[in-house]
Amino acid sequence: TIHINARNHLEIAGVDTIELTKKYGTPLVIYDIQTVRKNIRELKEGLADYKGQTEISYASKAFSSVAFYQIIHQENISIDVVSGGELYLAKQAGFPAKKINFHGNNKSLQELTDALDYNIGNIIVDNFHELEILKQLTEQRQQMTNILLRITPGVSADTHQYIMTGQADSKFGFDLQNGQAEKALAEALDASYLNVAGLHMHIGSQIFDTESYTVSMHQILNHVNKWQNKYDFQLKVFNMGGGFGVQHTVEEAENSPENQLKMISQQFMNLLDEYGMPYPELWIEPGRSIVGEAGSTIYEIGSQKKLPNIRHYVSINGGMSDNIRPAFYDAKYTGFVANRMNDEANTTVSIAGKACESGDMLIFDLPLPEVEAGDLLAVINTGDYTFAMASNYNRIPRPAVVFVEEGKDFLAIRRETPEDFMRFENGLPEYNN
Ligand code: LLP
Repeated sequence: TIHINARNHLEIAGVDTIELTKKYGTPLVIYDIQTVRKNIRELKEGLADYKGQTEISYASKAFSSVAFYQIIHQENISIDVVSGGELYLAKQAGFPAKKINFHGNNKSLQELTDALDYNIGNIIVDNFHELEILKQLTEQRQQMTNILLRITPGVSADTHQYIMTGQADSKFGFDLQNGQAEKALAEALDASYLNVAGLHMHIGSQIFDTESYTVSMHQILNHVNKWQNKYDFQLKVFNMGGGFGVQHTVEEAENSPENQLKMISQQFMNLLDEYGMPYPELWIEPGRSIVGEAGSTIYEIGSQKKLPNIRHYVSINGGMSDNIRPAFYDAKYTGFVANRMNDEANTTVSIAGKACESGDMLIFDLPLPEVEAGDLLAVINTGDYTFAMASNYNRIPRPAVVFVEEGKDFLAIRRETPEDFMRFENGLPEYNN
Protein backbone atom coordinates (compact mmCIF):
# COMPACT_ATOMS: atom_id res chain seq x y z
CA THR A 1 0.00 0.00 0.00
CA ILE A 2 2.82 2.42 -0.78
CA HIS A 3 1.79 5.09 -3.25
CA ILE A 4 3.19 8.22 -4.74
CA ASN A 5 0.59 10.96 -4.63
CA ALA A 6 0.03 13.94 -6.91
CA ARG A 7 2.45 16.02 -4.84
CA ASN A 8 5.24 13.52 -5.61
CA HIS A 9 5.16 12.42 -1.95
CA LEU A 10 5.25 8.96 -0.45
CA GLU A 11 1.78 8.04 0.68
CA ILE A 12 1.03 5.12 2.99
CA ALA A 13 -2.51 3.85 3.54
CA GLY A 14 -3.90 7.03 2.03
CA VAL A 15 -1.84 9.29 4.28
CA ASP A 16 0.75 11.74 2.95
CA THR A 17 3.92 10.92 4.90
CA ILE A 18 5.29 14.44 4.53
CA GLU A 19 2.19 15.79 6.27
CA LEU A 20 2.77 13.18 8.98
CA THR A 21 6.31 14.41 9.57
CA LYS A 22 5.00 17.97 9.86
CA LYS A 23 2.58 16.76 12.51
CA TYR A 24 4.85 14.40 14.46
CA GLY A 25 8.45 15.27 13.51
CA THR A 26 11.26 12.93 12.45
CA PRO A 27 12.52 10.27 12.74
CA LEU A 28 9.06 8.85 12.50
CA VAL A 29 8.09 5.19 12.52
CA ILE A 30 4.92 4.50 10.57
CA TYR A 31 2.96 1.25 10.70
CA ASP A 32 0.48 0.48 7.97
CA ILE A 33 -2.13 -1.40 9.98
CA GLN A 34 -3.91 -2.83 6.95
CA THR A 35 -0.66 -4.57 6.06
CA VAL A 36 -0.45 -6.03 9.56
CA ARG A 37 -3.99 -7.37 9.20
CA LYS A 38 -3.21 -8.70 5.72
CA ASN A 39 -0.07 -10.45 6.96
CA ILE A 40 -2.04 -12.17 9.71
CA ARG A 41 -4.69 -13.22 7.20
CA GLU A 42 -2.02 -14.67 4.93
CA LEU A 43 -0.44 -16.61 7.77
CA LYS A 44 -3.88 -18.03 8.60
CA GLU A 45 -4.20 -18.91 4.91
CA GLY A 46 -0.82 -20.65 5.06
CA LEU A 47 -2.15 -22.91 7.83
CA ALA A 48 -5.57 -23.43 6.27
CA ASP A 49 -4.81 -26.85 4.78
CA TYR A 50 -3.66 -28.31 8.07
CA LYS A 51 -6.20 -30.88 9.17
CA GLY A 52 -6.07 -30.08 12.84
CA GLN A 53 -6.58 -26.95 14.86
CA THR A 54 -4.13 -24.10 14.41
CA GLU A 55 -3.18 -21.05 16.42
CA ILE A 56 -1.05 -18.01 15.68
CA SER A 57 0.82 -16.45 18.57
CA TYR A 58 2.39 -13.12 17.64
CA ALA A 59 5.98 -12.89 18.94
CA SER A 60 5.56 -9.45 20.38
CA LYS A 61 9.30 -8.86 20.81
CA ALA A 62 9.32 -7.86 17.13
CA PHE A 63 7.24 -4.79 18.02
CA SER A 64 4.99 -4.10 20.94
CA SER A 65 2.88 -1.21 22.13
CA VAL A 66 -0.38 -1.03 24.04
CA ALA A 67 -2.37 -0.06 20.95
CA PHE A 68 -0.59 -2.67 18.90
CA TYR A 69 -1.51 -5.43 21.36
CA GLN A 70 -5.09 -4.23 20.98
CA ILE A 71 -4.86 -4.52 17.20
CA ILE A 72 -3.45 -8.03 17.53
CA HIS A 73 -6.41 -8.90 19.75
CA GLN A 74 -8.83 -7.48 17.18
CA GLU A 75 -7.36 -9.98 14.73
CA ASN A 76 -8.20 -12.69 17.20
CA ILE A 77 -4.78 -14.27 17.59
CA SER A 78 -2.60 -14.93 20.65
CA ILE A 79 0.68 -13.35 21.68
CA ASP A 80 4.01 -14.40 23.10
CA VAL A 81 5.74 -12.37 25.72
CA VAL A 82 9.34 -12.88 26.79
CA SER A 83 9.66 -10.74 29.90
CA GLY A 84 7.76 -9.21 32.76
CA GLY A 85 7.89 -5.98 30.78
CA GLU A 86 6.09 -7.36 27.76
CA LEU A 87 3.61 -9.12 30.04
CA TYR A 88 2.96 -5.84 31.85
CA LEU A 89 2.35 -3.98 28.62
CA ALA A 90 0.01 -6.70 27.36
CA LYS A 91 -1.91 -6.47 30.63
CA GLN A 92 -2.13 -2.70 30.30
CA ALA A 93 -3.58 -3.28 26.84
CA GLY A 94 -6.21 -5.56 28.38
CA PHE A 95 -4.96 -8.50 26.34
CA PRO A 96 -6.83 -11.65 27.45
CA ALA A 97 -4.64 -13.70 29.78
CA LYS A 98 -5.60 -17.04 28.25
CA LYS A 99 -4.15 -15.94 24.93
CA ILE A 100 -0.72 -15.08 26.33
CA ASN A 101 2.23 -17.46 26.11
CA PHE A 102 5.34 -16.79 28.12
CA HIS A 103 8.83 -17.49 26.74
CA GLY A 104 12.37 -16.95 27.90
CA ASN A 105 15.50 -18.80 28.96
CA ASN A 106 15.80 -17.12 32.34
CA LYS A 107 12.40 -16.17 33.66
CA SER A 108 12.68 -14.83 37.17
CA LEU A 109 10.62 -15.96 40.13
CA GLN A 110 8.85 -12.60 39.98
CA GLU A 111 8.06 -13.00 36.28
CA LEU A 112 6.70 -16.50 36.80
CA THR A 113 4.65 -15.31 39.75
CA ASP A 114 3.23 -12.44 37.68
CA ALA A 115 2.36 -14.90 34.93
CA LEU A 116 0.54 -17.17 37.38
CA ASP A 117 -1.21 -14.21 39.01
CA TYR A 118 -2.52 -13.19 35.63
CA ASN A 119 -3.39 -16.82 34.88
CA ILE A 120 -1.87 -16.75 31.42
CA GLY A 121 -2.48 -19.41 28.79
CA ASN A 122 0.83 -21.24 28.60
CA ILE A 123 4.32 -21.06 29.94
CA ILE A 124 6.95 -22.37 27.57
CA VAL A 125 9.43 -24.00 29.91
CA ASP A 126 12.99 -23.66 28.71
CA ASN A 127 15.24 -25.41 31.25
CA PHE A 128 15.48 -27.52 34.42
CA HIS A 129 15.89 -24.54 36.75
CA GLU A 130 12.65 -23.05 35.51
CA LEU A 131 10.90 -26.41 35.65
CA GLU A 132 11.86 -26.77 39.30
CA ILE A 133 10.73 -23.26 40.26
CA LEU A 134 7.48 -23.66 38.41
CA LYS A 135 6.82 -27.02 40.01
CA GLN A 136 7.24 -25.52 43.47
CA LEU A 137 5.26 -22.39 42.69
CA THR A 138 2.30 -24.21 41.21
CA GLU A 139 2.27 -26.67 44.11
CA GLN A 140 2.35 -23.88 46.71
CA ARG A 141 -0.44 -22.09 44.92
CA GLN A 142 -2.26 -25.29 43.96
CA GLN A 143 -2.70 -23.74 40.56
CA MET A 144 -2.92 -25.99 37.54
CA THR A 145 -0.73 -24.49 34.80
CA ASN A 146 -0.39 -25.33 31.12
CA ILE A 147 3.12 -25.67 29.84
CA LEU A 148 4.92 -26.49 26.64
CA LEU A 149 8.45 -27.79 26.78
CA ARG A 150 10.90 -26.02 24.52
CA ILE A 151 12.90 -28.63 22.65
CA THR A 152 16.18 -27.92 20.87
CA PRO A 153 16.18 -30.30 17.94
CA GLY A 154 19.88 -29.96 17.08
CA VAL A 155 19.39 -28.54 13.59
CA SER A 156 21.24 -25.54 12.17
CA ALA A 157 18.97 -23.28 10.16
CA ASP A 158 20.44 -21.26 7.34
CA THR A 159 20.48 -17.73 8.81
CA HIS A 160 22.74 -15.30 10.65
CA GLN A 161 24.41 -17.04 13.59
CA TYR A 162 23.15 -14.45 16.10
CA ILE A 163 19.56 -15.38 15.30
CA MET A 164 20.00 -19.13 14.90
CA THR A 165 18.57 -21.02 17.85
CA GLY A 166 17.87 -24.68 17.00
CA GLN A 167 21.45 -25.94 16.79
CA ALA A 168 22.74 -28.22 19.55
CA ASP A 169 25.05 -25.51 20.91
CA SER A 170 22.26 -23.12 21.89
CA LYS A 171 21.36 -21.40 25.14
CA PHE A 172 17.69 -22.21 24.56
CA GLY A 173 15.63 -25.25 25.37
CA PHE A 174 16.01 -28.89 26.35
CA ASP A 175 18.40 -30.72 24.10
CA LEU A 176 16.71 -33.49 22.18
CA GLN A 177 19.71 -35.54 21.17
CA ASN A 178 21.36 -35.99 24.57
CA GLY A 179 18.32 -37.05 26.60
CA GLN A 180 17.60 -33.72 28.35
CA ALA A 181 14.27 -33.37 26.59
CA GLU A 182 13.07 -36.78 27.71
CA LYS A 183 14.20 -36.15 31.27
CA ALA A 184 12.35 -32.82 31.30
CA LEU A 185 9.22 -34.47 29.97
CA ALA A 186 9.32 -37.18 32.63
CA GLU A 187 9.78 -34.57 35.38
CA ALA A 188 7.03 -32.34 34.06
CA LEU A 189 4.58 -35.22 33.70
CA ASP A 190 5.32 -36.12 37.29
CA ALA A 191 4.44 -32.66 38.62
CA SER A 192 0.97 -32.46 40.15
CA TYR A 193 0.10 -28.98 38.92
CA LEU A 194 1.74 -28.92 35.51
CA ASN A 195 -0.26 -29.89 32.49
CA VAL A 196 2.12 -30.70 29.64
CA ALA A 197 0.04 -29.48 26.72
CA GLY A 198 2.78 -30.17 24.24
CA LEU A 199 6.12 -29.27 22.78
CA HIS A 200 7.69 -26.21 21.29
CA MET A 201 10.59 -25.56 18.97
CA HIS A 202 12.01 -22.42 17.47
CA ILE A 203 14.95 -22.81 15.15
CA GLY A 204 15.82 -19.20 14.38
CA SER A 205 14.70 -16.10 12.57
CA GLN A 206 14.65 -14.85 8.98
CA ILE A 207 14.68 -18.41 7.61
CA PHE A 208 13.58 -19.13 4.04
CA ASP A 209 14.62 -22.75 3.95
CA THR A 210 11.53 -24.77 4.94
CA GLU A 211 13.57 -27.94 5.23
CA SER A 212 15.15 -26.72 8.48
CA TYR A 213 11.66 -26.85 9.98
CA THR A 214 10.67 -30.23 8.63
CA VAL A 215 13.98 -31.85 9.57
CA SER A 216 13.55 -30.49 13.10
CA MET A 217 9.94 -31.67 13.27
CA HIS A 218 11.00 -35.08 12.08
CA GLN A 219 13.63 -35.32 14.82
CA ILE A 220 11.11 -34.33 17.46
CA LEU A 221 8.31 -36.61 16.23
CA ASN A 222 10.73 -39.49 16.15
CA HIS A 223 11.21 -39.05 19.90
CA VAL A 224 7.56 -38.29 20.62
CA ASN A 225 6.70 -41.58 18.97
CA LYS A 226 8.77 -43.41 21.60
CA TRP A 227 7.63 -41.21 24.47
CA GLN A 228 3.96 -41.82 23.75
CA ASN A 229 4.45 -45.52 24.48
CA LYS A 230 6.73 -45.04 27.45
CA TYR A 231 4.85 -42.25 29.28
CA ASP A 232 1.32 -41.15 29.77
CA PHE A 233 1.89 -38.39 27.24
CA GLN A 234 0.01 -37.24 24.21
CA LEU A 235 1.12 -34.49 21.91
CA LYS A 236 -1.87 -32.18 21.99
CA VAL A 237 -0.02 -29.06 20.89
CA PHE A 238 2.97 -28.72 18.62
CA ASN A 239 4.37 -25.22 18.45
CA MET A 240 6.80 -24.88 15.54
CA GLY A 241 8.00 -21.42 16.52
CA GLY A 242 8.40 -18.44 14.24
CA GLY A 243 11.23 -17.32 12.01
CA PHE A 244 9.55 -17.19 8.61
CA GLY A 245 11.75 -15.03 6.44
CA VAL A 246 10.53 -11.78 4.92
CA GLN A 247 11.99 -9.49 2.31
CA HIS A 248 13.63 -6.24 3.34
CA THR A 249 15.07 -5.48 -0.12
CA VAL A 250 14.30 -6.85 -3.57
CA GLU A 251 17.45 -8.99 -3.49
CA GLU A 252 16.30 -11.14 -0.58
CA ALA A 253 14.68 -14.48 -1.37
CA GLU A 254 11.00 -14.45 -2.09
CA ASN A 255 9.13 -17.46 -0.78
CA SER A 256 6.32 -15.75 1.14
CA PRO A 257 5.60 -16.78 4.75
CA GLU A 258 2.22 -18.05 3.54
CA ASN A 259 3.90 -20.42 1.06
CA GLN A 260 6.51 -21.45 3.57
CA LEU A 261 3.71 -22.42 5.97
CA LYS A 262 1.82 -24.33 3.29
CA MET A 263 4.92 -26.39 2.59
CA ILE A 264 5.83 -26.96 6.22
CA SER A 265 2.33 -27.87 7.41
CA GLN A 266 1.92 -30.33 4.52
CA GLN A 267 5.24 -31.96 5.37
CA PHE A 268 4.24 -32.07 9.02
CA MET A 269 1.05 -33.94 8.15
CA ASN A 270 3.07 -36.37 6.04
CA LEU A 271 5.35 -37.02 9.00
CA LEU A 272 2.40 -37.51 11.36
CA ASP A 273 0.86 -39.95 8.90
CA GLU A 274 4.12 -41.85 8.68
CA TYR A 275 4.10 -42.28 12.44
CA GLY A 276 0.37 -42.90 12.54
CA MET A 277 -0.08 -40.04 14.99
CA PRO A 278 -3.24 -37.95 15.38
CA TYR A 279 -2.86 -34.32 14.26
CA PRO A 280 -2.01 -32.13 17.24
CA GLU A 281 -2.91 -28.46 17.31
CA LEU A 282 -0.28 -26.71 15.22
CA TRP A 283 0.85 -23.38 16.60
CA ILE A 284 3.18 -20.84 15.07
CA GLU A 285 4.72 -17.76 16.64
CA PRO A 286 5.67 -15.32 13.92
CA GLY A 287 7.01 -11.88 14.72
CA ARG A 288 8.77 -10.48 11.71
CA SER A 289 6.32 -11.81 9.13
CA ILE A 290 3.49 -9.88 10.81
CA VAL A 291 5.17 -6.52 11.29
CA GLY A 292 8.27 -6.31 9.07
CA GLU A 293 6.75 -5.15 5.85
CA ALA A 294 4.18 -2.99 7.66
CA GLY A 295 6.74 -0.52 9.04
CA SER A 296 8.59 2.39 7.47
CA THR A 297 10.84 5.00 9.02
CA ILE A 298 11.14 8.58 7.83
CA TYR A 299 14.28 10.56 8.59
CA GLU A 300 15.37 14.07 7.80
CA ILE A 301 18.53 14.45 5.78
CA GLY A 302 21.21 16.76 7.21
CA SER A 303 24.90 16.92 6.42
CA GLN A 304 26.74 15.34 3.51
CA LYS A 305 30.35 14.47 2.86
CA LYS A 306 31.63 13.68 -0.60
CA LEU A 307 34.85 11.72 -0.99
CA PRO A 308 35.52 11.59 -4.75
CA ASN A 309 35.90 8.00 -5.94
CA ILE A 310 35.41 6.70 -2.42
CA ARG A 311 32.01 7.45 -0.98
CA HIS A 312 29.26 10.03 -0.72
CA TYR A 313 27.93 10.10 2.83
CA VAL A 314 24.45 11.42 3.48
CA SER A 315 23.57 11.73 7.16
CA ILE A 316 20.14 11.34 8.67
CA ASN A 317 18.75 12.35 12.07
CA GLY A 318 18.51 8.76 13.35
CA GLY A 319 20.29 5.49 12.67
CA MET A 320 21.44 2.72 14.99
CA SER A 321 19.49 4.22 17.89
CA ASP A 322 16.23 3.42 16.07
CA ASN A 323 17.46 0.62 13.77
CA ILE A 324 20.45 -1.36 14.94
CA ARG A 325 19.91 -4.19 12.45
CA PRO A 326 22.41 -3.06 9.78
CA ALA A 327 25.15 -2.57 12.39
CA PHE A 328 24.30 -5.70 14.34
CA TYR A 329 23.28 -8.23 11.68
CA ASP A 330 24.50 -6.62 8.50
CA ALA A 331 20.83 -6.27 7.54
CA LYS A 332 20.04 -4.58 4.24
CA TYR A 333 17.41 -1.92 3.65
CA THR A 334 16.22 0.24 0.85
CA GLY A 335 14.95 3.80 0.80
CA PHE A 336 13.56 6.70 -1.21
CA VAL A 337 13.38 10.46 -0.95
CA ALA A 338 9.88 10.66 0.46
CA ASN A 339 9.23 14.25 -0.61
CA ARG A 340 10.46 13.75 -4.19
CA MET A 341 9.50 10.21 -5.05
CA ASN A 342 9.56 10.48 -8.84
CA ASP A 343 12.87 12.35 -9.12
CA GLU A 344 15.45 10.40 -11.03
CA ALA A 345 17.97 8.46 -8.96
CA ASN A 346 21.07 9.84 -10.64
CA THR A 347 23.59 9.37 -7.85
CA THR A 348 24.68 6.74 -5.35
CA VAL A 349 25.02 7.56 -1.68
CA SER A 350 25.59 5.82 1.63
CA ILE A 351 23.25 6.66 4.47
CA ALA A 352 24.99 7.44 7.75
CA GLY A 353 23.32 7.50 11.14
CA LYS A 354 23.97 10.28 13.64
CA ALA A 355 25.55 8.20 16.41
CA CYS A 356 29.24 8.61 17.21
CA GLU A 357 30.13 5.24 15.74
CA SER A 358 31.68 4.54 12.37
CA GLY A 359 29.55 1.41 12.27
CA ASP A 360 26.36 3.47 12.36
CA MET A 361 25.67 3.15 8.64
CA LEU A 362 22.09 2.41 7.69
CA ILE A 363 22.42 1.71 3.96
CA PHE A 364 25.45 1.43 1.69
CA ASP A 365 25.37 2.42 -1.99
CA LEU A 366 21.77 3.48 -2.31
CA PRO A 367 20.70 5.00 -5.64
CA LEU A 368 19.00 8.35 -4.92
CA PRO A 369 18.39 11.69 -6.59
CA GLU A 370 20.67 14.54 -5.49
CA VAL A 371 19.47 15.48 -2.01
CA GLU A 372 19.83 18.49 0.23
CA ALA A 373 19.36 19.18 3.92
CA GLY A 374 15.69 19.02 4.79
CA ASP A 375 14.83 16.30 2.30
CA LEU A 376 13.17 13.30 3.87
CA LEU A 377 14.44 9.77 3.52
CA ALA A 378 11.94 6.92 3.81
CA VAL A 379 13.39 3.53 4.68
CA ILE A 380 10.87 0.76 4.12
CA ASN A 381 10.25 -2.65 5.67
CA THR A 382 11.50 -1.51 9.05
CA GLY A 383 8.64 -2.86 11.15
CA ASP A 384 10.50 -5.82 12.66
CA TYR A 385 13.00 -5.49 15.51
CA THR A 386 13.84 -1.84 14.92
CA PHE A 387 11.80 0.30 17.30
CA ALA A 388 11.69 -2.79 19.53
CA MET A 389 15.50 -2.74 19.77
CA ALA A 390 15.85 1.04 19.87
CA SER A 391 18.13 2.54 22.47
CA ASN A 392 19.06 5.91 23.89
CA TYR A 393 22.69 5.55 22.92
CA ASN A 394 24.25 9.00 22.66
CA ARG A 395 21.12 10.16 24.51
CA ILE A 396 19.19 10.19 21.29
CA PRO A 397 15.46 10.12 22.12
CA ARG A 398 13.42 7.31 20.61
CA PRO A 399 11.19 8.25 17.68
CA ALA A 400 7.42 8.51 17.69
CA VAL A 401 5.34 5.65 16.29
CA VAL A 402 2.26 6.40 14.23
CA PHE A 403 -0.31 3.92 12.94
CA VAL A 404 -2.02 4.69 9.65
CA GLU A 405 -5.10 3.04 8.25
CA GLU A 406 -7.65 4.12 5.68
CA GLY A 407 -6.43 7.69 5.45
CA LYS A 408 -6.27 8.23 9.23
CA ASP A 409 -3.31 8.46 11.56
CA PHE A 410 -3.00 7.65 15.22
CA LEU A 411 -0.06 8.41 17.53
CA ALA A 412 0.60 5.05 19.22
CA ILE A 413 3.86 5.99 20.97
CA ARG A 414 4.83 9.59 21.46
CA ARG A 415 8.34 10.80 20.72
CA GLU A 416 10.76 10.74 23.65
CA THR A 417 12.27 14.00 24.78
CA PRO A 418 15.47 14.70 26.71
CA GLU A 419 13.22 15.53 29.70
CA ASP A 420 12.11 11.88 29.69
CA PHE A 421 15.68 10.91 30.55
CA MET A 422 15.33 12.74 33.85
CA ARG A 423 12.74 10.20 35.04
CA PHE A 424 15.64 7.95 35.97
CA GLU A 425 18.19 10.51 37.12
CA ASN A 426 19.29 11.75 40.53
CA GLY A 427 21.80 14.55 40.91
CA LEU A 428 24.25 14.25 43.78
CA PRO A 429 22.48 15.35 47.00
CA GLU A 430 25.35 17.48 48.28
CA TYR A 431 26.25 18.99 44.95
CA ASN A 432 26.09 22.74 44.73
CA ASN A 433 28.65 24.47 42.67
N1 LLP B 1 9.53 -17.58 18.93
C1 LLP B 1 10.65 -17.52 19.65
C2 LLP B 1 10.86 -18.44 20.76
C3 LLP B 1 11.63 -16.57 19.31
O1 LLP B 1 12.75 -16.53 20.00
C4 LLP B 1 11.40 -15.67 18.22
C5 LLP B 1 12.38 -14.68 17.86
C6 LLP B 1 10.19 -15.77 17.52
C7 LLP B 1 9.28 -16.74 17.91
C8 LLP B 1 9.84 -14.87 16.38
O2 LLP B 1 10.71 -14.98 15.31
P1 LLP B 1 10.38 -14.17 13.95
O3 LLP B 1 9.14 -14.76 13.34
O4 LLP B 1 10.20 -12.75 14.30
O5 LLP B 1 11.59 -14.38 13.12
N2 LLP B 1 16.46 -9.25 16.62
C9 LLP B 1 16.64 -10.18 15.54
C10 LLP B 1 15.65 -11.30 15.58
C11 LLP B 1 15.68 -12.03 16.89
C12 LLP B 1 14.62 -13.05 16.96
C13 LLP B 1 14.48 -13.56 18.35
N3 LLP B 1 13.47 -14.54 18.50
C14 LLP B 1 16.58 -9.44 14.21
O6 LLP B 1 16.40 -8.23 14.23
O7 LLP B 1 16.74 -10.05 13.16
